[in-house]
Amino acid sequence: MRVIRSLPAMQAWSVRERRAGRRIAFVPTMGALHAGHLSLVRRARSIADRVVVSIFVNPLQFGPKEDFRRYPRVPLKDMTLLRPLGVDVVFLPAARAIYPDGFQTHVEVEQVSRGLCGASRPGHFRGVATVVAKLFNLVQPDAAIFGRKDFQQVKVIERMVRDLGFPVRIVEAATVRDRDGVALSSRNAYLTPDERVRARAIPQALREARAVSRRKGASPARVRALVRRRLAEAGLKVEYVETRSARTLEPVHRRERGVALLVAAGAGGTRLIDNTVLD
Ligand code: PAJ
Repeated sequence: MRVIRSLPAMQAWSVRERRAGRRIAFVPTMGALHAGHLSLVRRARSIADRVVVSIFVNPLQFGPKEDFRRYPRVPLKDMTLLRPLGVDVVFLPAARAIYPDGFQTHVEVEQVSRGLCGASRPGHFRGVATVVAKLFNLVQPDAAIFGRKDFQQVKVIERMVRDLGFPVRIVEAATVRDRDGVALSSRNAYLTPDERVRARAIPQALREARAVSRRKGASPARVRALVRRRLAEAGLKVEYVETRSARTLEPVHRRERGVALLVAAGAGGTRLIDNTVLD
């Protein structure tokens, strides 16, 4: 497993591998890796000849009051987790290399970035799209793997790839959960034991939502009200509970196939997101 820090070295490696006819799968991350990230890496390993994982805590996607400074950074531990998975390159660029003095070019995926997480995190998806576009240019992957846990992020990246013509196949991977159902997230490290117990209400409410939607044919509005109630009962601060088309992310009002239920809620100071497809 090679560690590459310089941008030209990363690009040169990829150009060489591609010329030799090898297919590259790429997993972009911000590190503090958990089993969710590792499932993406295994997926990458299964679909390509070479696997590149990037670890970069991207300042551009954090708001001024968000947790950029305290976001967990454990690169040595991350490497220990990646080594046994057959990763070829860990790309660890420096922030000033990704954003040199005078940086002023951004990628904005307009509609898909609005609402949901985009509403409370202005500029977040612009930061995500910009860094992913740059990483795609550096790593030049054939495929890139993203987790469905960040549902809106996958949609933003898919739209960007189509709109700007990146020759990259976007692969979506299922959400990996802890034994109590809570979706794995690097930010779960912020939770106190009490908040961690409250967090279980999220996967429980999603499960109940699937059941009432399937068995009783409940309307999206009723499902949303139920989920809001369950999260509030558990002492979580509801940020949004929405039903959207799983394909386009547009709002849905009637019961139909392929409806995604998306939630964001606060446990203490920690923001948690999760989602499910209702049928
Ligand atoms: P990060 O939060 O580190 O997540 C990296 C990838 O892991 C994302 O595709 C995310 O959806 C996926 N992931 C996180 N938790 C998961 C889980 N429980 N199950 C499955 N996949 C999971 O997302 C980012 O970083 C950044 O925005 C990034 C795309 C790297 C751009 O900076």
